[in-house]
Amino acid sequence: TAKPNLIVSRLGFGAVAKNTLDQVTIPAGYSYQVIYALGDPLNAATAAYKNDGTDGDFESRAGDHHDGMEWFGLDAAGKPSSSAADRGLLAMNHEATTQEGSALNSFFVHANGGTNKLPRPTAEIDKEVAIHGLSVVEVKASGGKWATVPASNFNRRVTPLTEVEIAGPARGHALVKTKYSVDGTKTRGTINNCGCGKSPWGTYLSGEENWSGYFYRVATDDATRGDKSVVSLKRYGRNAGAASRHGWETGGSDDKYARWNISRLGSSADGSDDYRNEMNGQGYIIEMDAYDKTKALKKRTALGRFAHESAAFGLPVAGKPLTVYLGDDSRNEYMYKFVSKALWSAADANPTDRMAVGDKYLNDGTLYVAKFNADGTGEWIELSMNNPSIKNYAGYAFADLADICVNTRLAGDAVGATKMDRPEWGGVHPVTGDYYQTLTNNSNRRIEPSKTTELVPDSANPRYYEDADGNRGKGNPNGHILRTKEGANVTSFNWDVYVFGAEADMDKSTINLSNLTDDQDMSSPDGLAFSQSTGICWIQTDDGAYTDVTNCMMLAAIPGKVGDGGSKTLTYKKADASTYDVKTQIGAAPTADTLKRFLVGPKDCEITGLCETPDGKTIFINIQHPGENTKMADVADPAKYTSQWPSNVGYGAGKRPRSATIVITKDDGGRIGS
Ligand code: FEO
Ligand code: CA
Ligand code: CA
Ligand code: CA
Repeated sequence: TAKPNLIVSRLGFGAVAKNTLDQVTIPAGYSYQVIYALGDPLNAATAAYKNDGTDGDFESRAGDHHDGMEWFGLDAAGKPSSSAADRGLLAMNHEATTQEGSALNSFFVHANGGTNKLPRPTAEIDKEVAIHGLSVVEVKASGGKWATVPASNFNRRVTPLTEVEIAGPARGHALVKTKYSVDGTKTRGTINNCGCGKSPWGTYLSGEENWSGYFYRVATDDATRGDKSVVSLKRYGRNAGAASRHGWETGGSDDKYARWNISRLGSSADGSDDYRNEMNGQGYIIEMDAYDKTKALKKRTALGRFAHESAAFGLPVAGKPLTVYLGDDSRNEYMYKFVSKALWSAADANPTDRMAVGDKYLNDGTLYVAKFNADGTGEWIELSMNNPSIKNYAGYAFADLADICVNTRLAGDAVGATKMDRPEWGGVHPVTGDYYQTLTNNSNRRIEPSKTTELVPDSANPRYYEDADGNRGKGNPNGHILRTKEGANVTSFNWDVYVFGAEADMDKSTINLSNLTDDQDMSSPDGLAFSQSTGICWIQTDDGAYTDVTNCMMLAAIPGKVGDGGSKTLTYKKADASTYDVKTQIGAAPTADTLKRFLVGPKDCEITGLCETPDGKTIFINIQHPGENTKMADVADPAKYTSQWPSNVGYGAGKRPRSATIVITKDDGGRIGS
C-alpha cells in the first residue's frame, strides 16, 4: 500500500499562547471560518436559525455538541473521490446538549430555557431528542472560501429515532429483543456519539459513549427482573430508581417516549413485549455510509459494548486481518482491539456496496482487552468463550459470544484487564503503525485507596498528585497519552507513555515528566487524530483542571516511536512514611520543533473532531459547547453568557453560544502545520 506523503519533520508555525479569550486563536499565517453551527438548515425548505429558543425542525438542522467528524470527498460529478480537496461531505457526531449541572432541560434550545421538572413537556423532549445523533453536510470551497451546501441531496440527519440494524454476534439474540424488534434485528437510533473513525472502505464509524444515562428504571426493577440482567445494568451504571439525564421517559405512552423506561413491565420471557432490553441496543460502534442515505446504519456488535470513543484502524496490509483499536471512556475502564476474521483485500478500498464490505470485516472476528506489564510489554487477552476466565467467571454467567459483545465490561473484569485513566480517542501513526491512546484524566487514583472505586497508580497509569491550584483535586488531573506497538503475535505488544499532560511549571521529576514548556503544556488530552498527509498527530483537550489559565486547545505533534525513551520509577510516600514504587516507561521528551500549541478555543468549550482534505491543506475541527457554564436562569441575558461565540465573530443570528465546525487554511496555500 502507498505510504502517505510525509514530509513534515518540524512544525513550521509559531506556538499560540495560552489564553482565556472568547475567540479561536490560531498561529500567524493561518485563517479560519465558522461554517456549520447548531441549528443551521440542512435543506432549502428550512428557515435560517433564529437562535432564540423558538426554532424547531431539528431533524432538518445541524444537531448540538458537534464531536467526532470525518471527511468524504466528492468529485465534480458528485461521485465519491479519495483525492477531491474542494468538495466533500462532513459526517459528524452530535454528542449531547448543554444542561446546567443535573438539570434535565437543554436550556439554550428552548425559548424560556425549558422545564426542569417531571414530566417533561413532549415538545421539549422532541426537540432535545432531535438535536442528538449524527449529521452529514456537504461542504464546498470556492475562491478560497468554504461553505456548506444547504440544499445538497447528500445532507442528512440521523437521530435517536432513526431505524438501525443490529449486526454481528448480537443480531437476533434474546438480549436485544424488544417490543420494537421482536426478532432482535433492529433498534432505534444512536445516542451520545463521541469519538469516530473512517473505515478503509470509506464509511463513517461513530462511538456511542454515555448512552446509559438517558434511560430510566423504576426503583423496584431489580427485584422484578430477578435475573443476571441486573448485574449488567449495574455494571453499566444504570441503577434502579436513578433519574435519567433528561426525563424523556415521561413524555407519555407513545413508544418513542416509553422506550426510555427500561423497567421490566411485560410478562414475556424474552423481553419482546416491553423495553427491558432497549439499552442493549446502545453502546456500540455504529457504521454509516455517508455517501448513501438509502443504506441502513448498522451497529457493529462484534466490537463490543461500552462507552465507545474512536475506532482507529491499524495500517491495512493485503492478506492480513484488519485491526481496530477501541477505548472505553470511563474512570478505570479498559482498552480493546478487534481483529477481523476476513483478510484485507485492497480491492475493497473502493467498493460499490460499502456497507456490505463493513459486513465482511466487522461482523466476524476476535475482541481483545489490554493488560499492561511494568517492563514495557503487554498482553491482548482474548474475550471469547474459549477463555476459561470468561467461561467460568463467578461474577456473571456468560452464555455465548453475543453475551460477551453486549456485556464487554464484565468480560474485561473476568480476565483481569488493566484499569485505565479514561481511554478517550486513539489514532494510528501512518508510518510506524503505533497506536496512540489518550488517557484524559482520572480523579480516582490514590496511593492509599479508601474506596473500591479508587486504584493505586500502576505502570501504565503511574501518576498521583494534586492539581496545581487544587480545583480538580488529586489523582491524575492532567492525563497522558500512551502508545502501543503490536508484538510478534496477535496477543503481544510493547508500550510506553508518549507524553504526560502537565502545567509547565510543575515538578519535572514527579509531574511534568515530559518536560513540557509554556508552548506545549496541556491538560486532559481527549481528541487525537493523525494527518494522513503530513503525519502530524493532532491532540485536542477537554479540560477542567487548567481552565483557570487557558481555554481548551489543540496541539500539533511529531511523535517518535514506542520505546524511544526509557524507564523511570516514581516513588510515593505513604502516610506511615513507607514508600510505594511505580515503574513506568516514558517516551523521549518532545522538543520545541515536535510539539506546539496550534489553537486555543473560546470560553467553556472543548476542542474535538478533526478531519482534513487529502492534500493536507484544509482541516476541519469542532468547537463543542462554548459557554456551557452559563446559568440557565441567565438564558435571556446575553451579557451573562460565559461565551457569545460564534456570534461574536459575526456568525449567525442571536447571541446564544453554539457548537460549530470551523475550517482552517494556511494563507500561503500550504499544508496545515508544515
Ligand atoms: Fe464524549 Fe469521552 O468524550
Ligand atoms: Ca471526548
Ligand atoms: Ca473528555
Ligand atoms: Ca487547576
